[in-house]
Amino acid sequence: MRIEINTERLLARIEALGRIGALPGGGCKRLALSAEDAAGRALVSGWFRDLELDVYTDVIGNCWAIRPGQKDLPPLVMGSHIDTVATGGLYDGVLGVLGGLEVIESVIDAGIETDHPLAVAFFTNEEGARFAPDMMGSGVSQGALDLEEMLAKVGIDGVSVADALEEIGARGREPVGALAPCAYLELHIEQGPVLEAEGTEIGVVTGVQGISWTEFAIAGRSAHAGTTPMALRQDAGAVAAGIAMEARAIARDFGPPQVATVGRMRFAPDIVNVVPEEAVLTVDLRHTDEAVLQAAEARLVAAAEALAEAEGCTLSRRSLARFEPVSFDSGLVDEIEEGAKRLGLSHRRMPSGAGHDAQMFAPTCPAAMIFVPSQDGISHNIHEYTAPHDLANGVRLLAEVALARAGVVQPEGQTA
Ligand code: GLV
Ligand code: MN
Ligand code: MN
Repeated sequence: MRIEINTERLLARIEALGRIGALPGGGCKRLALSAEDAAGRALVSGWFRDLELDVYTDVIGNCWAIRPGQKDLPPLVMGSHIDTVATGGLYDGVLGVLGGLEVIESVIDAGIETDHPLAVAFFTNEEGARFAPDMMGSGVSQGALDLEEMLAKVGIDGVSVADALEEIGARGREPVGALAPCAYLELHIEQGPVLEAEGTEIGVVTGVQGISWTEFAIAGRSAHAGTTPMALRQDAGAVAAGIAMEARAIARDFGPPQVATVGRMRFAPDIVNVVPEEAVLTVDLRHTDEAVLQAAEARLVAAAEALAEAEGCTLSRRSLARFEPVSFDSGLVDEIEEGAKRLGLSHRRMPSGAGHDAQMFAPTCPAAMIFVPSQDGISHNIHEYTAPHDLANGVRLLAEVALARAGVVQPEGQTA
């Protein structure tokens, strides 16, 4: 069953949501559970309610909207996130949510009934930019992360998840795990350069690479930058810089697909002519193979310890996030590929380099993802852009696969 989607309506909604937390020059900032996130939640859940969907929010703030099916069956869930990093674009996460909404509204417009309920959801704190770990809401909902532990997590501004949920009124009453999907589908922008470079319209996502986030804290001794001989320093900043260089060396030595990123680093007292007595940095390591990721982690920790010891500094570390690589459901991946063929869309299989809510569903139900191209391959950047025809292709394919899974009720007198 093929349905018409309304691209203008989809674009208008993406633009309207993008105006919340808009940044000068483009893009937006809606950190998880911030005032901007609250405004985004109100807008999107308002659209859910306009369609008279059954809307509920669970205790970690995930918002679910369901259009009932004709049979007492578990729902087909489409979703993603509407929080952003501080330098976010208009499409990361948003496409999966508003694309899912567009599928449901188009199904309603077409007067189609499905056997399974159709649901769309947005999940709390996918980005991990304010509170670590990322994929928090979907992880809690699927039992991969502990609710109480996550509520106690403290963000970069010193506020806990529990307090932030209360503050913006996003803590719902539904228990987590109340809704067990028959399948989970997430449409997302690629956030990398592969599809655009090849001129391919659709990425059929086979899985997500493993993610390891570690925070290192180094304590040394502050001293005068001019008078303290190099051999007598306990320079926490130099150790941090050494760890950053080691992360790069690991990525170089291991080769692709190993990646390593130092996204945060701060020194104290942070003065031009004072040797830092404290340094804190984060390292993000990712690989598609769990054994290789573990080897990268082990090498990084060994090097960090050696660097700290050589400088007479003390080192502590804590894990901020750790997710093993995930393979998506092969049957659902095949269905996405078949759907792309039926729609005449060029496609290729590919792993995801970014983390996604879909990976939290993969252990509990068939889950898979659809990618559409990102202009210049950039994301987590205010210039993130995907052309309207690519957005529409993704939503059409999402509808095609979702309807096949949800089962279209044939009108009286017709056969399938
Ligand atoms: C989440 O967006 C991540 O991949 O870091
Ligand atoms: Mn995303
Ligand atoms: Mn993101």
